[in-house]
Amino acid sequence: MEDIATRPIGMFDSGVGGLTVLKALRERMPCEDVVYLGDTARLPYGTKSAQTVSRYAVQCAAELVRRGIKLLVVACNTASAVAIGPLREAYPDIPVIGVVEPGAQAACRATRNKAIAVIATESTIAGGAYQRAIHAMEPEARVLGHPCPLFVPLAEEGWTEGEVTEGVARRYLDPIFRPASGDERPEAPDTLVLGCTHFPLLAPSIRAVVPASTTIVDSAATTARTVFDALERLNLRRPGSGCGMTRYLTTDDVPRFARTGSRFLGTPVTEAQVELVDL
Ligand code: DGL
Repeated sequence: MEDIATRPIGMFDSGVGGLTVLKALRERMPCEDVVYLGDTARLPYGTKSAQTVSRYAVQCAAELVRRGIKLLVVACNTASAVAIGPLREAYPDIPVIGVVEPGAQAACRATRNKAIAVIATESTIAGGAYQRAIHAMEPEARVLGHPCPLFVPLAEEGWTEGEVTEGVARRYLDPIFRPASGDERPEAPDTLVLGCTHFPLLAPSIRAVVPASTTIVDSAATTARTVFDALERLNLRRPGSGCGMTRYLTTDDVPRFARTGSRFLGTPVTEAQVELVDL
């Protein structure tokens, strides 16, 4: 009989941003096989309605389920924020793990003054999923959500540092951390959640414009730990040692996925590893 533990983990994102989560997962669980789907043809999800994102998310999951995954990681904040319910309903037999709760958990652990800023796409902020997840763990917390949509194309283009990116970061973040006078507000958040899978790439520019004492958290490492714990609990860890295989699926241009994906993953993604799929 087939051992379910030998099946791959499935992950999806609207594009290559979720590779920041894959990177953390690989560091924690090098011998798991992974199938990663980037829905690049329909990126961005962050400006679309919850209904549309949920429909796309269920289609992405269907493709991965067809490939026999044992667990699904929603490596996209926007899809995690609006589609976790529909995904769990559509696939009740597969554990589904999103990135919002692990990110909220990391923020609650990090904050000392219970003031937390969350930056993300428009849909993620509008849906209030981070606010709800943080309040569920830390009811007293003050949560300031702020959409930063321009960070997505900047990360895709590889403009992770420099004058333009820092200028955009300043424009978005100064109202949260520095009022008009330019002084730091005493009540300013001490923790900043990067609530979008693209944003960790811009961390140097973000770090350059927020007060030095700010703790910046992203959900990648915490999500990897959550996946690890779930696999342990369900007795689904892949047996043996050695390097697991990664297979990439994309809904648009393969060379572009390989090129930008390599940047997000920090190691080369070859075109031979990427398959074009139509959802
Ligand atoms: N992956 C999306 C997220 O984490 C960002 C890109 C998009 O808008 O699709 O929210």
